[in-house]
Amino acid sequence: MKNKTYHIITFGCQMNERDSETLAGMLDTMGYAYTEDKTKADVVLLNTCSVRENADKRFFGVLGQLKHRRLAQPDMTVGVCGCMMQQEHVIAALKEKFPWVDLIFGTHNIHRFPQLLHEVREQHVHLTDIWAEGGAIVEQLPAKRAFSYKAYVNIMYGCNNFCTYCIVPYTRGRERSRQPTEILNEVRRLAESGTKEITLLGQNVNSYGKSRYEAGSYCMDDGVEGMDFAGLIRAIDKVSGIERIRFMTSHPKDISTDLIRAYGDCEHLCRHIHLPVQSGSDRVLQKMNRHYSRDQYLEIIDRLRKICPSIAVTTDIIVGFPGETEEDFRDTLDLVKKVRYDSAFTFLYSPRKGTPAEHFADQISQEVRHDRFNRLIEEIHRIQGEKSLDYQGKVLPVLVEGPSRTRSDVFTGRTDSSKVVDFPGAPEMTGKILPVRITRARTFSLYGEVEGNDSE
Ligand code: SAH
Ligand code: SF4
Ligand code: F3S
Repeated sequence: MKNKTYHIITFGCQMNERDSETLAGMLDTMGYAYTEDKTKADVVLLNTCSVRENADKRFFGVLGQLKHRRLAQPDMTVGVCGCMMQQEHVIAALKEKFPWVDLIFGTHNIHRFPQLLHEVREQHVHLTDIWAEGGAIVEQLPAKRAFSYKAYVNIMYGCNNFCTYCIVPYTRGRERSRQPTEILNEVRRLAESGTKEITLLGQNVNSYGKSRYEAGSYCMDDGVEGMDFAGLIRAIDKVSGIERIRFMTSHPKDISTDLIRAYGDCEHLCRHIHLPVQSGSDRVLQKMNRHYSRDQYLEIIDRLRKICPSIAVTTDIIVGFPGETEEDFRDTLDLVKKVRYDSAFTFLYSPRKGTPAEHFADQISQEVRHDRFNRLIEEIHRIQGEKSLDYQGKVLPVLVEGPSRTRSDVFTGRTDSSKVVDFPGAPEMTGKILPVRITRARTFSLYGEVEGNDSE
């Protein structure tokens, strides 16, 4: 008999992408086969994000498209999970407007998915299973990795920071760190199967380990007593086969001197840091509950650049936070000019239900938000374009990711600094780290040629 098929649609951040790999792994283990075609799959899962309103809207749009098929095919299963499901108002909206959805579960119980799916399909029932908080971390779940040469590795779950605009602490619960031995074993297994690049994932990787000490497990029998984030990087740096270490995301308030030093002495730590600043105004930073000042942030960047002058710095910035004045916004523009980011993700402030900032006075009009947003990206792109020119003529190691989206003879990869490089290539290059001479610099990407490649 032909295998039943599944399709997963993932919204949101790397955390969700990693969770979808686990869900895919579970479905494979249950005997389902992946299909690209969501219009034919027997099981369609939507793994949702709630960080901004746009993400919510896109989810409801895609879900709406599935209605006709689901109602016409009683044998099909539609499941929804992820961050949106941890919010009561979302569950209420689903029950009212999308009662045909078969399975609803949250971020804290994805290990229960096989059992839940089995019940839904065998007993033809609709199930909702949401846990308010995460229990102990469940290890050893299967995973179907999206790539063979690079991998995401969770090091911690949840967030304790409660930035006043952010929904994540409500959808992902309190901080919980994985044991170092579990992480190192996973990294070793990945290295053995050919993975070259590891991206360590957590909402605030700089506080890795703290929840373990608080839970009284500071001295575990794992031989890596009290390991903090920098210690973890140092340990992974020694794993044979791992050539690149990245991480997401680090909070400026918790960055340690030892992590800064690691940029000087860890051979495989990529010369790139994504350090979200959110705003360049002290007044706004305080209202955001970020626990650092613009000067403290600038000092961290100085210290990083002293140890590693070529480090690429990227960031996240929110414009139009409640109460943000023109002067506050100019402080952000000024900080952007001082740091000279290699690139930045810019977001229009989006009020999230249940967060403190939702009720702050002086919500900024759409018009002002958009105007500031445009001025900010203009500045960021100008600097990005100038910084790109520094790459011209250099020969850099590039991890080849595969053919570009538009042309099969043009391949794409990333430098150590995470800059995208396109070059004429061939399928056998995928997954290799090759020297590429940069011949042309554009604002968002570079163009080059693989050195010593005489195949054309
Ligand atoms: N844990 C990470 C960020 C996770 S969310 C960190 O602290 O850096 C990713 C980014 O989305 C944030 O850095 C922020 O810039 C943006 N963001 C979060 N909530 C938002 C909101 N309500 N409106 C607009 N942008 C938001
Ligand atoms: Fe959200 Fe702040 Fe936690 Fe990041 S650190 S996930 S922005 S609350
Ligand atoms: Fe979105 Fe949840 Fe990530 S809200 S950004 S998917 S942690």
